[in-house]
Amino acid sequence: MAGDTLVNVPNGILNTIPDSQRTYQVVVAATQNIDIGKDGKLPWKLPSDLKFFKDVTLITSDLVKKNAVIMGRKTWESIPLEHRPLPGHLNVVLTCSGSFDIATAENVVICRSMGFALELLAASPYCLSIEKVFVIGGGQILSCDAIHITEIETNIECDTFIPVVDMSVFLPWYSSFPLVENNIRYSFTTYVRVKNITIEPLSRANGAKSIIA
Ligand SMILES: NC(=O)c1ccc[n+]([C@@H]2O[C@H](COP(=O)([O-])OP(=O)(O)OC[C@H]3O[C@@H](n4cnc5c(N)ncnc54)[C@H](OP(=O)(O)O)[C@@H]3O)[C@@H](O)[C@H]2O)c1
Repeated sequence: MAGDTLVNVPNGILNTIPDSQRTYQVVVAATQNIDIGKDGKLPWKLPSDLKFFKDVTLITSDLVKKNAVIMGRKTWESIPLEHRPLPGHLNVVLTCSGSFDIATAENVVICRSMGFALELLAASPYCLSIEKVFVIGGGQILSCDAIHITEIETNIECDTFIPVVDMSVFLPWYSSFPLVENNIRYSFTTYVRVKNITIEPLSRANGAKSIIA
């Protein structure tokens, strides 16, 4: 991969050492049981949440750059054909299957692992053209810098889950007032990794309050 360093190791085999990996944030909507999906779809219809998703993931401070969204293959397939690739983003799709081939689509990159995706985005040309990286699902969430979570208070049956957020590592940074749409009560909360609370403030239209003074 471009940007990698080749090193000679004692057994004479050339190994590839990646220069670095991109950090990333997570954007997800989940119930209090951290359920996120059902039958390959979102089990709720929340237009304001879709707007929130766009607001968070599309904004760049450098207008020449765009952001990347990383998703599992099933999440990609859950996006209606007419809406994918998600416009305005570089869409990175994770799959181990060699038969899954959409690489010819514009603004779509296929990666075999999360590590490879984060290395690819850290290397040229993406290190120059991609400002922020968001993991948007499905069930895989790793060691991110920030989690933008739409917290759904209503109980809804699901079959896909995310790992529990380790609150010893994350600090709540922002929480919106609750909204109600389609009889579902929910709010937007952002958690940031404790060692890294310098992410840019988000502009909110729906009565935002910041937890950090
Ligand atoms: N509430 C939300 O915010 C939200 C967000 C996104 C998705 N969802 C929901 O979540 C469900 C889909 O999530 P899911 O967990 O079932 O599937 P997923 O994570 O979207 O996709 C799983 C597939 O992605 C590939 N994959 C995932 N992690 C990988 C890795 N680290 N390396 C390589 N390949 C990897 C594999 O593809 P191959 O099998 O091709 O190898 C795997 O089978 C849907 O119901 C969707 O609507 C909800």
